[in-house]
Amino acid sequence: MSNSVSRKKIAIQLTLAITLIVLAVIAKRAIANEPVQSVSQGSITQERAAELTHMLRHDCGSCHGMTLKGGLGPSLLPEQFKDKNSEYITLTILHGRSGTAMPPWKTIISEDDARWIAEFLLSGRIKEFNK
Ligand code: HEC
Repeated sequence: MSNSVSRKKIAIQLTLAITLIVLAVIAKRAIANEPVQSVSQGSITQERAAELTHMLRHDCGSCHGMTLKGGLGPSLLPEQFKDKNSEYITLTILHGRSGTAMPPWKTIISEDDARWIAEFLLSGRIKEFNK
C-alpha cells in the first residue's frame, strides 16, 4: 500500500519536473524570437535586420560604395551625419532626393525599416560589417 503511494508521489513529481522543463524551453524560444526594439519607435526582427544590412551593402552600396564610404552618392558613415538627425535620414531614404540619383525606397521598405536603417547608420555599426 505505502509502496504504491510513494510510486504515485514519484509519478507526480516527475510530471511536474517535465512540465517545468517544457515550459522553460517554450519561454526560451519565445525570448529568442522576440523582435529587437530599435532606438526610436517600431521594432525590427533580427531576420529583418539581416535583410536590411544586406540591402545596405548591395543596393545602397551600388551608389554609396560597398563599405558606404561614398561613390556616386555621399558617404553614409556617421561622420557624414554630424549635423543631421535620424528623422532627416529616414525621410531621405523613404522619399529620395528629387533631381538627384537618390531614389525613393518607400515602395520597397516600411517606415520602421527606414528608421531602423537611419539609426543603424548613425550608430556606426556598419563598420563592424566592413571588417
Ligand atoms: C542610384 C544611386 C543611389 C542609390 C541606389 C542609393 N542612393 Fe542614397 N544618395 C544618392 C545620391 C546621388 C545622393 C546625394 C543626393 C544629393 O545630392 O542631395 C544620396 C543621398 C543619400 C542620403 C543623404 C545623405 C546626406 O548626407 O544628405 C542618404 C541618407 C542616403 N542617400 C541613403 C541611401 C540608402 C539607405 C540607400 C539604400 C536603401 C540609398 N541611399 C541608395 C544615390 C543613391
